[in-house]
Amino acid sequence: MMTYRPRRNRNSKSIRNLIRENALTSNDLIAPLFVIEGENQSVAIDSMPGQYRLSIDLLVKEVEELWELGVPCVSLFPALDDSKKDKYATESYNDDGLFQRAIRAVKKACPEILVMSDVAMDPYSSDGHDGVVSDDGEILNDETLEILAKMSLSQAKAGSDIIGPSDMMDGRIGYIRDALDEAGFTNTIIMSYTAKYASAFYGPFRDALDSAPKSGDKKTYQMDFANKREAIRETILDEQEGADILMVKPGISYLDIISDMRSNTTLPIAAYNVSGEYAMVKAADEKGWIDGEAVMMEMLTSFKRAGCDMILTYFAKEAATLLRANR
Ligand code: PBG
Repeated sequence: MMTYRPRRNRNSKSIRNLIRENALTSNDLIAPLFVIEGENQSVAIDSMPGQYRLSIDLLVKEVEELWELGVPCVSLFPALDDSKKDKYATESYNDDGLFQRAIRAVKKACPEILVMSDVAMDPYSSDGHDGVVSDDGEILNDETLEILAKMSLSQAKAGSDIIGPSDMMDGRIGYIRDALDEAGFTNTIIMSYTAKYASAFYGPFRDALDSAPKSGDKKTYQMDFANKREAIRETILDEQEGADILMVKPGISYLDIISDMRSNTTLPIAAYNVSGEYAMVKAADEKGWIDGEAVMMEMLTSFKRAGCDMILTYFAKEAATLLRANR
């Protein structure tokens, strides 16, 4: 006699639903969105089918649709003209800059949705790096912190609910926390890009912002993809420095990191399902080689299984739409 038959618990949809361990809901999703200057502008991003750079008026509409679908948070990124970029990313803390105006407009139209704002120099840097580049090409850590703090403050003033430092400079979480607290922004959340790897999966995002490094790579600040212990080291430091939420980036090739982090912290964990991961699914789906929708749901659920509380994903709208239809 066979005592154990695991297939019993798979025999019908109902029993499968009953024993299901993890479920994705629209509450788990954060939608990354790109903003550009102008009015009524929607510029397709070739390497990210279905994603657009939107002028503020259309961005606001998109956010309202996401909110209506039950998505609780959007993460904004500015695509700036080269003329706005310089060595010290000064445009990043211009209180009337594109990004700050976008944050204000979104919060005004849709006050309850959480706005997360990215903190790093690259969209504003003529060098295309996340930090200040010295004459001999070094990325200067401590000089960068001050700029990141100014940028964070300017975003918080504009109404950002969640500051998202994506730069990987040492000590930036504590530095930004202090700057926010001193200015009275004690309720502004920091979601740290805690374990951000130097990854080839960011290609389409850099196309979207035209933000690829002009020289060198990001390997002296973003992590080596061969490393796992180092992610826990970063977790401990970010906790000590006062991060509220920790993030792992990219996502799909880094589920082991998420799982390890889950057993080493009590803080909420986010994954960033990045541009290259999105592009691969879309490309294979367009060719008819995979069922893109099914792969999307499998990927997003795998983040939950690995221990994530939330997922930044370009699939947010599509997934929320599907979840609503299947309700
Ligand atoms: C920049 C930043 C990047 C992404 C988010 N913030 C790119 C990079 O580090 O070069 C990538 C997101 C994606 O690929 O979807 N600080």
